[in-house]
Amino acid sequence: RIPAGIVNLADYERLASERVDSATWAWLDGAAGDELTRRANREAWDALWLHPRVLRPLAHGHTRVHLFGREWPQPVLVAPVAYQRAVHPDGEWATAWGAAAQGAGLVLSLQASAPLESVARAMQADAGRGPLWMQLYWHPDRGWMQELLARIEAAGYEALVLTVDAPVSGVRDRERRAGAGVPPEVRSVNLVDRPRAEARGAGPAASHVFDHLALAAPGWDDVAWLASRTRLPLLLKGVLHADDARQAQAVGAAGVVVSNHGGRTLDTAVPTAWALPRIVEAVGDAMPVLVDGGIRRGTDVLKALALGARAVLVGRPIVCALACAGALGVAHALRLLRDELEAAMALCGCATLEQIDRAVLWSEEPAHE
Ligand code: FNR
Repeated sequence: RIPAGIVNLADYERLASERVDSATWAWLDGAAGDELTRRANREAWDALWLHPRVLRPLAHGHTRVHLFGREWPQPVLVAPVAYQRAVHPDGEWATAWGAAAQGAGLVLSLQASAPLESVARAMQADAGRGPLWMQLYWHPDRGWMQELLARIEAAGYEALVLTVDAPVSGVRDRERRAGAGVPPEVRSVNLVDRPRAEARGAGPAASHVFDHLALAAPGWDDVAWLASRTRLPLLLKGVLHADDARQAQAVGAAGVVVSNHGGRTLDTAVPTAWALPRIVEAVGDAMPVLVDGGIRRGTDVLKALALGARAVLVGRPIVCALACAGALGVAHALRLLRDELEAAMALCGCATLEQIDRAVLWSEEPAHE
């Protein structure tokens, strides 16, 4: 059942903080360093003010969105979050059911704790579903990557999302203080046959970052290779710089997700609401730009679209809803967000997503008035 008294996504986060064990909570809710980026992501959306319009025609408005040649019910996707069975036994399956029921998209983490084929089936069972995408981390064994791509394509995923902002894990103070995060029985079941990345340069002078992790990290050549080896559109997730977005386009990516990993990798990295307009300016005409980080309200979604994002991803609150109420919680959280988006659109005089532009944001210079 839907827990009593939940009226917004923050309510699910609060309730989950009481219900999830403390080590798992440090992993789920936590971020890198002093968690300044995590906080700034939210504050940056809050710092934008809307400029409502009145008396506009709104009848038959809708939230439908076009992405990669198809139309979907709404511009919200569940962000890839690893190990969802750590918070609920139905894990990623429940997230897929809940997302599908609300026409929201799902980006399945490569580190999912459920097989990617069965999660795809859970999502595909609902005709009104949103996009079904698969997140990837690079692995230097191209043969293994190729087999993984074949599996993902065969399962019916419609796009690949290569996460590029985490060649190295973030310095997660909260997690380290809390001790072990996810329970050991919750595993990345899709990675059981992944070869171990080679470690070289052992010895007292060796750097774990530069002599170990960096050896397995991808470069632009690898992105080009990946784009050429799949028929699916390839998005890069974790882009914050306009030059990187241009380079992504040049090597064959079909889209970018402006993201700082929810503040979990580099603390004090710029909030995504700040980086988004520059990336949109650089590549927005050529390919879809999506954004995540701190999106908790329908007004946040509206602001992201006003800054040029084509869709948004939401991470922690959805997994908190999963923890509190399984598939029903996920569906409920996504419904709340969609209701808020529709209300915000209507109150800003926008009947469709196409009508949302910079003019819905308050600007000190009244350029168009
Ligand atoms: C993540 N994120 C993430 N990203 C990714 O590409 N692959 C992954 O496996 C994970 N795993 C993961 C676990 C947990 C517990 C969290 C909170 C996040 C990042 C995620 O996709 C997304 O970028 C952020 O969560 C978005 O910020 P919000 O909505 O959580 O503020």
